[in-house]
Amino acid sequence: MSAPAAAAPVLAPLRFGPLTIDSPVVLAPMAGITNRAFRRLCREYGSAGGTGANALYVSEMITSRALVERNELTMKLIEHDPGESPRSTQLYSVDPVTTAAAVRLLVTEDRADHIDLNFGCPVPKVTRRGGGGALPWKKELFRSIVAAAVREAEPYDVPVTVKMRMGIDVDHVTYLDAGRLAEAAGAAAVALHARYVDQAYSGVADWSAIARLKETVRSIPVLGNGDIWSAEDALRLVAESGCDGVVVGRGCLGRPWLFADLANGFAGSPERVTPTLGEVGATLRRHAAYLCDFYEDEAKGCRDIRKHIAWYLKGFPAGSQIRHQLALVNTLADLDALIADLDASAPWPGAPAEGQRGRAGNPRRVALPDGWLDSQELTAEQAALVAEAEDSVSGG
Ligand SMILES: Cc1cc2nc3c(=O)[nH]c(=O)nc-3n(C[C@H](O)[C@H](O)[C@H](O)COP(=O)(O)O)c2cc1C
Repeated sequence: MSAPAAAAPVLAPLRFGPLTIDSPVVLAPMAGITNRAFRRLCREYGSAGGTGANALYVSEMITSRALVERNELTMKLIEHDPGESPRSTQLYSVDPVTTAAAVRLLVTEDRADHIDLNFGCPVPKVTRRGGGGALPWKKELFRSIVAAAVREAEPYDVPVTVKMRMGIDVDHVTYLDAGRLAEAAGAAAVALHARYVDQAYSGVADWSAIARLKETVRSIPVLGNGDIWSAEDALRLVAESGCDGVVVGRGCLGRPWLFADLANGFAGSPERVTPTLGEVGATLRRHAAYLCDFYEDEAKGCRDIRKHIAWYLKGFPAGSQIRHQLALVNTLADLDALIADLDASAPWPGAPAEGQRGRAGNPRRVALPDGWLDSQELTAEQAALVAEAEDSVSGG
């Protein structure tokens, strides 16, 4: 009897300059989450699923200024595991000179294989000074930052990609212009979080915008981002938008095995991971151990795992008391004792564990510098204010 034919992959591998990403899946950069420890966990699941294909796991954002100044926390955040390949780092930048210096540091010291630029941050203290999601409105500033990064990275064959939102709000749409500018400036791919800055994480991502970006940016991959909670969502986004790959953020919080599902889904396999509570407990424990290793400090690692507890337990039968105790855990021994109290045989709960997880937030008026929206050109006064925008973001 002949073996069944292997299912055909849904998409071609992603090509970012010299990099080939077999499975067209990117772990979204998430501040406070996608450190070396979490990336390792996601990577282990991603390469175990489907065909053992690789995907791209991006670091949380670091600020270019802090990197150039070799801030201690920042230098820790750009670390990668010895086996991590490709090594991906996201930079937050507000001016071309600091961007160039930060990229130069990463490439000349061989600290990254891929650099992503963040133009989507909605945090008021960032947008108030014209940074993050507010920045692409100033087209020439945006273009010059991307061009500076590409210029420094190109001789080292390190691809630079851009991650952005649709615009500041529905009346100030930026993504099509920004996509064209990034493409012309030499970006290797563009990713769109299909929301406006004023939506924060609320409402529903508008995947039709990803389709429009795909029609506009023709020579480099276009990646879709926003509200992918399952492999089925990812496949639907690709089918609806024609995008070349997906970027997955909140969907993998407390669910790193989503990367196995995504690898399976894109390899054409229907296989999905549906862990028991015992298996979830083991994953949570492994995540905590990786965090302790990352911080080189058990107390810090245990403090960090606390914020993941509710995500891991979503939908499972676990009482409020044990959830509360887990969210206060101080040591790995305490964690072990609490995990042992969970009903290890409880099966994957299905629907209650699916769907949205992580922050949603509320729509809000975007804090911007005075007169920011009056023109897409940067005034001298605004240029000075933007230069301060990096000071307002912590080392992470
Ligand atoms: C906790 C958290 C931290 C985030 N940090 C970053 C970041 O550092 N850089 C960035 O470009 N986007 C950041 N984002 C946005 C995500 O990368 C992603 O674009 C967004 O969550 C939408 O995708 P999703 O619906 O799959 O979560 C963050 C999102 C969350 C929830």
